[in-house]
Amino acid sequence: GSGRAGALVLFGITGDLAHKMLLPALYRLTAAGRLDLPIVGVAKTDLDLDGLRERARETCGGVRDAAFDRLAGNLRLVAGDYGDPATFTRLRDEVAGMGFLVHYLAVPPALFAPVAEGLAGVGLNRDARLVVEKPFGHDLQSARELNDQLLRHFDEDHLRRVDHFLGKEPVEDLMVFRFANMLLEPIWNRSYIRSVQITMAEDFDVRDRGAFYDANGTVRDVVQNHLLQLLALLAMDPPPSTDARATLDEKWRVLRAVKTIDPADVVRGQYTGYLGTEGVRPGSTTETFVALRAYIDNWRWAGVPWCIRSGKAMPMTDLEVVAELRRPPVTMFDDAHAPASPNLIRFRLQPDAGVTFDLLAKEPGKQRTRPVPVSVDFTKEFGPMDAAYERILADAVSGDPRRFLRFDLVEEAWRIVAPVLDMTEPPLPYEPGTWGPAAAAKIAPGGWHEISNSFD
Ligand code: BG6
Repeated sequence: GSGRAGALVLFGITGDLAHKMLLPALYRLTAAGRLDLPIVGVAKTDLDLDGLRERARETCGGVRDAAFDRLAGNLRLVAGDYGDPATFTRLRDEVAGMGFLVHYLAVPPALFAPVAEGLAGVGLNRDARLVVEKPFGHDLQSARELNDQLLRHFDEDHLRRVDHFLGKEPVEDLMVFRFANMLLEPIWNRSYIRSVQITMAEDFDVRDRGAFYDANGTVRDVVQNHLLQLLALLAMDPPPSTDARATLDEKWRVLRAVKTIDPADVVRGQYTGYLGTEGVRPGSTTETFVALRAYIDNWRWAGVPWCIRSGKAMPMTDLEVVAELRRPPVTMFDDAHAPASPNLIRFRLQPDAGVTFDLLAKEPGKQRTRPVPVSVDFTKEFGPMDAAYERILADAVSGDPRRFLRFDLVEEAWRIVAPVLDMTEPPLPYEPGTWGPAAAAKIAPGGWHEISNSFD
């Protein structure tokens, strides 16, 4: 399953994802000396290879340097329809002798199975790995069907399902912060933690993605995948060893313990103006915001609400986790009339990254002893935030499975959100630039904590 690649076959090389993310990432990997192999683009396109190279250059900001020349020299192109067996015959001829192949499917999900089938038709499923982009299924059943279709031609060991959040360095740092330090783990449980809040806010609306977004909504777009993966990394037990499987197993164990979400613990919202977006169905009840409460039924977390909210057209773009600690059992300072704020641990993941502890200290210069908030903060210098796809592509090529979704994780995630997908009442309206419908406040016990970006 982890064979070193002789070539990268990139389906959808002229598409949006390749343009925005994959080609720039391939360029940076090439410039860093980390990638140098044939990249065979497949696409339904009128471009020829020179046209593709020029397009790739524009995509990479018009660069003219040795790294780009190297990347351009590695590019190949097979133009054709994915439904036409001749496309795959031409691909087979193009890759002859290149060795182990990594097929990366940056194409709409409806094409995952047909492309896998086309590859198998010309034997290109042997000595090869298949990497598929998101979304993986539309619900539990369709995910299983899709998986069965792919498994006909590639075994699980040779399949990689992308969740680009797992390539983000600050997300990865959660595991280091948790398990390389002794500070957190002793209190990281129901005895000390009252609640955990995960916020993923975006200050832009669905923009030109109306049709895609309307068929999915917030839960499918970011909760089932990105945010439940975050929850798993935060809530899981320490893996017993460093190999990829140990981590994937722990993620599975904790997701398995997450209770299927109760619709009574969910508030869905839709920003006003959404219905006027191109591609959105008239009267659509797709949510552009969701706030929900999940519970993890295990010894570590039983009874602790894990609150997740995400939306488009929010006041800011931010990804942050706030864990609230329980209060001290006894009040012994002059704060009876103005209860001090709880201790908070904030994992700031985007746009800046780091950890902040909101603590209490004596109000300076006063006779009385009154606790006032202080914060201990470190901001980390991470590599560029857009580097997630460099890690994903490097792993696709090397075969390391740890930053991908094993199918049993995907299944649990669909199981967890299933009742939310079935909710039929129309979402509550909210004004763009707000934190969603007012009713979302009641999802988090004590309300949602302000996130650190909003302090000034
Ligand atoms: C994608 C979603 O998976 O993640 C988008 O489809 C969302 O709706 C995006 O904007 C956020 O990713 P990032 O890396 O820009 O934070």
